[in-house]
Amino acid sequence: MAAAPRRQVRLNLFAHACGHHAAAWRAPGSSVSRLGDITYWEELARIAERGRLDAIFLADGQSIAPAGAERGPTWFLEPITALTAMARATERIGLVTTVSSTFWDPFHAARLLASLDHISHGRVGINVVTSMTDDEARNHGMPALPDHAKRYATAGSSSRCSRGCGTHGPPRASWPIRGVYVDPSLLRPPQHHGESFQVAGPLNVPTPPQGRPVLFQAGASEPGRELAARHAEGIYAVAWDLESALAYRSDIRARAAALGRAPETIAVMPGLVVHVASTEEEARRMRADLDSRLPVADSLRQLSFFIGQDASDWELDATVPPLPPLEEFTGPKGRYATVLRIVDSVRPTVRELLGLLAAGGGHATVIGTPESVADEIERWVDAGAADGFNLMPPTLPGGITDFVDQVVPVLQRRGRFRREYEGATLREHLGLPEARPATSPL
Ligand SMILES: Cc1cc2nc3c(=O)[nH]c(=O)nc-3n(C[C@H](O)[C@H](O)[C@H](O)COP(=O)(O)O)c2cc1C
Repeated sequence: MAAAPRRQVRLNLFAHACGHHAAAWRAPGSSVSRLGDITYWEELARIAERGRLDAIFLADGQSIAPAGAERGPTWFLEPITALTAMARATERIGLVTTVSSTFWDPFHAARLLASLDHISHGRVGINVVTSMTDDEARNHGMPALPDHAKRYATAGSSSRCSRGCGTHGPPRASWPIRGVYVDPSLLRPPQHHGESFQVAGPLNVPTPPQGRPVLFQAGASEPGRELAARHAEGIYAVAWDLESALAYRSDIRARAAALGRAPETIAVMPGLVVHVASTEEEARRMRADLDSRLPVADSLRQLSFFIGQDASDWELDATVPPLPPLEEFTGPKGRYATVLRIVDSVRPTVRELLGLLAAGGGHATVIGTPESVADEIERWVDAGAADGFNLMPPTLPGGITDFVDQVVPVLQRRGRFRREYEGATLREHLGLPEARPATSPL
């Protein structure tokens, strides 16, 4: 009897600045001078596509905090604009943008996304975020961010709205068949009357190839998990170790099942920072070289942001002091929970904690050879802790080139990752069901 096919691994590239390590932009030969150059982003997308990855993902923020500007590049090109160019530079890879439900009007977002889905021939995904800082709010006429519960209520409304209650568009033209451009009876405006949004609909963009974009989510708090279980088709999770990833994925799957959703229609992808080289010593040396470029004061400021208190005068070689419990923390809870987990599991000194947070802020980190990295990926997937990974290369383009050239072939040889794209759309790459709106006859 033939062996059962082994579960396929999902792989997504989280393309961020010069790479996810906080010191990546300081390394010799870094891509820091290319961040405004669209050919850089196109190149990243092509490398990921050469590796047959499911998607490339761009995060987004709505401000540049002056106090953090000297620490290195954060946001640069607006992601939908950049992804539109990247769509024209690639053929198959999925393109995931970030949309803030706190700041974006859903009709406007749906229009841009439907257009990009047409331009890319069905490759769009959106990462719905609730946003994180008051600096962002002040760029949108708000004195401060709405509180966490209100932001998630808006995100729920926005997700319901964009799932088709009010914004999907008219069917594509039927004129070649019947001489009628669009049958007006098919333009039933599916209205959305929520607390946060009122949208009459329909969208004035023809129904996009995927029906609607694949919906990703990355919040880990209680309302974040509820939102994910109800609406997400992909999740960018944060998991420091296999145990926390397993607990998170099991929780999401149980919540989704309780809501009547099939858990296998949700791909949970924890972030993964990989340092890979032909020997483990070389991989460790690459990592140590980046760590050595880290300015300690900047890292302490980042830690202060993660934990919501000033850590700038903490003694570097002392053990991290006790931190307040999760329930008392009012900032972004997912990342804070990760910091608590690292502190509880490793009891690091402040200096050690800074190193662990420097690349990706507490996501799983693997340093090793192509085989040992692939082993770890398989171990998580086989344990039910992940459906795949959101790759967060410490440097770019070097880190994704190394992964594609060294780790992907091992996964392919082991039958865990595609050698060629089989489908055309992002939905097809992820094995997700179609999402055709009811009004579309095509
Ligand atoms: C991998 C990953 C990517 C994220 N990308 C963004 C982003 O681009 N913009 C943003 O405002 N928040 C981003 N976030 C933050 C979350 O989406 C979420 O808004 C935040 O964690 C607060 O929600 P929580 O309290 O439920 O964790 C990201 C989080 C993760 C884990």
